[in-house]
Amino acid sequence: MMKALVLCGGRGTRLRPLTYTLPKQLIPVANRPIVHYVMDHLAAAGIRDVGVIVAPETREQIENALATNPWGFALTYVLQPQPMGLAHALVVAREFIGSDPFVMYLGDNLLGSGLQPLMDLFSRERADAVVLLKEVSDPRHFGVAVLDGEGRLTRLVEKPADPPSRLALVGVYIFSPAIHKAVQEIEPSWRGELEITDAIQRLLDRGNRVLGERLQTWWLDCGKKDDLLEANRVVLDDWIRRDIRGTVDEESRIVGRVVLEEGTRVERSEIRGPTVIGAGTIVQDAFVGPYTSIGQRCTISHAALEHSVALDGVRVEAVERLEDSVLGRNAVVRRHGGDQRALRLLIGDDAEVLL
Ligand code: G1P
Repeated sequence: MMKALVLCGGRGTRLRPLTYTLPKQLIPVANRPIVHYVMDHLAAAGIRDVGVIVAPETREQIENALATNPWGFALTYVLQPQPMGLAHALVVAREFIGSDPFVMYLGDNLLGSGLQPLMDLFSRERADAVVLLKEVSDPRHFGVAVLDGEGRLTRLVEKPADPPSRLALVGVYIFSPAIHKAVQEIEPSWRGELEITDAIQRLLDRGNRVLGERLQTWWLDCGKKDDLLEANRVVLDDWIRRDIRGTVDEESRIVGRVVLEEGTRVERSEIRGPTVIGAGTIVQDAFVGPYTSIGQRCTISHAALEHSVALDGVRVEAVERLEDSVLGRNAVVRRHGGDQRALRLLIGDDAEVLL
């Protein structure tokens, strides 16, 4: 029976400051944690038995985020005490995986389509590994694959300075139990991690069957602020339907595909889709523009906000125009009453303010 292993460890250094308090897999895209989309794909592929790799820092929040388990999975949490690499995650999950084939899915990767083509390829070709690939403009940040004419992988390298192709490894793989031996035979890389890319290369060297499948839709690796805004834009564009469950007064206009969750109040404002606004949020005398996701219990008042992501508890008040912004939980952006040329900031570690 095919199992799945979802990786929710790691430090998320590229998404600081958000990831000081929130595992990167829980960062919301269109108001849902990224890992929920991962689980949707696994459930749609008929997988029931899911292992979740957690780090000591992420464990509690990840478990809470998956606790309602609407997918009906049998969930097993496996602790990876230190971030020693993706292949190391397989070492700690060895008992959970047993001798079954399994999907390995990085919990911060967002894909526009499901797993079926990859699952079909894996079983049809009796492969030991299948990897999902996508052409990217700068492959240096990823694992990179070289394919021959028949779609057979010939070589893989992790984050090459001089990429041999533009095909990046998307963070979704299917393995037979042959991978465990390969993992035992590799050494830590320059960054001190056991790389899954090296383990797959090892399979190739041993003559195992390794195949690549090109992903036909979009793939977003929510590594940085702009990636997150892009993920938000694409998910709002592709998956949001109009659903008004909040209250809207007569002086407001709701245009296009807008989600207003329960208890949302919109007064004297305009909201343009695609946009989602979380439960209990109040929007007054404001404009909320396309491609914006606002979390729960926020206040947007006398302000305009566009192409942005606001997490729970955010307040934006008396701000003429805010765009391309990511605001962490309970952040406040407010114009003060004093000298308007003066800025008054209380900024957390690693925050970025563009003026
Ligand atoms: C990891 C893998 C890399 C893959 C990427 C996809 O990189 O090592 O091969 O292309 O995920 O998200 P990391 O996120 O550890 O830098």
